[in-house]
Amino acid sequence: MSFTLSTPRKLLGLAVGMALSASPLLAQAQSDDEVKIGFIVKKPEQAWFINEQDAATQLGEEKGFEVVRLSGEDGQEVLSAIDNLHSQGAEGFVICPPDVRLGPAIMNRAEQYGMKVVTVDDRFVGGDGEPMEEVPHLGMSGYKIGEQVGNAIAEEMERRGWNPEEVAALRITNYELPTAKERTDGATAALLDSGFKEANIFDAPQQNTDTSSAFAAASPVFSKRSDFEHWVIYALNEESVLGGVRASEQYGLDPDQVIGVGINGSGAAFAEFSRETPTGFYGTVAVSSTMHGRQTADNLYQWITEGEKPPANTETTGKLMTRDNWEDVREELGL
Ligand code: GLA
Repeated sequence: MSFTLSTPRKLLGLAVGMALSASPLLAQAQSDDEVKIGFIVKKPEQAWFINEQDAATQLGEEKGFEVVRLSGEDGQEVLSAIDNLHSQGAEGFVICPPDVRLGPAIMNRAEQYGMKVVTVDDRFVGGDGEPMEEVPHLGMSGYKIGEQVGNAIAEEMERRGWNPEEVAALRITNYELPTAKERTDGATAALLDSGFKEANIFDAPQQNTDTSSAFAAASPVFSKRSDFEHWVIYALNEESVLGGVRASEQYGLDPDQVIGVGINGSGAAFAEFSRETPTGFYGTVAVSSTMHGRQTADNLYQWITEGEKPPANTETTGKLMTRDNWEDVREELGL
C-alpha cells in the first residue's frame, strides 16, 4: 500500500499510517505522490487482456503513475475491486466489464468514491438499453472489423474453389454484448454480399466470450448438420473461433474443410499460427491491444491530472493476420 498527500482522500491513508505509527509506511507516504489508477478486466487469463494490462502498466512506468491490475469476472468481484482501489487511494479505473449491463451499478460505486471511469472494449449499457455516453469509451469498430472477417472468409473460400451454395457457416453469437453482435452482424453482411447462402448460416449462441463456451455451443451444430463438407467459422473473437475449430476437429473435419477467422490478434492466435501444421483457424483480424491498454490508461491519467475528459467514443481498426504474415502484423501493431 502507498499513500499520497495530493488529494483529501489520501489523508485517510496518511491517518491510518500515523495511527499505526509505521514509520516506513509514513516515509513512503511522504515520498510517494504518484497517481494511482486501476485496470479491471473481465477475463484476466486471456492474452488480449493480459496485453492490455501490460501496456497500461508500461505507460505508467514511462509517465510516472501506478497501474493496479485487477480481475472482475462478475459483478461482485468488480465491486470489491473498486472498494479495494479506493482503499489504496486510486483516483479512477479503466474497465472491461464482465457484463455491460452492470454499467449503472459500477458507476454508482465509483461516484460514491469520486473515482473517474473509462471503459475499454465493452461499453456500458444504461437502464434504457442504450450505451452510457457519459462514460468515455475506447473499443473496436465492431461492424467494420466484422466485415473484414466476412471478406477474408469469402476470399479464402474462393481461393480454395468452394462452391458457396455448399458451404455452411458456424456463427458463434453473443447477442447480449453489443460489440459482439456488431462484429458477427458485419461478418454476416459481408459474407451474404459475397454470395453466401443465408439458409446455410447456423447459430451457436455462447454463454460467455471464451473458448470453452464456444466449444460447447459449436459441437451440437456440427453433429446436426452432417450434410455439409465445408465450413466457415466466425465469432466475436479468436478465442471463440478457436472453440469452434476445436469442435470441428473433434467432430472429424480436416483443416482443409474449415476456414475459421477470428478477431483480436493476441497470444491465442500466435500460438495457433506457431503450430507445425495449419489448422482450420485460417486467420484473425488483429487489433492493437497494446494501443487499447495504453490509450485508455493515458486518457484516464490526463483526465485525473489535467481535468481533460476523454472523447465519448473512440473506435479502432484492424488488420488481417494469417499464418503467412502474423509476425509482421504483430510487429506493426506493437503486439
Ligand atoms: C471483447 C472480447 C475480447 C476482445 C475485446 C476487444 O471484450 O471479449 O476478446 O475482442 O472485445 O475489444
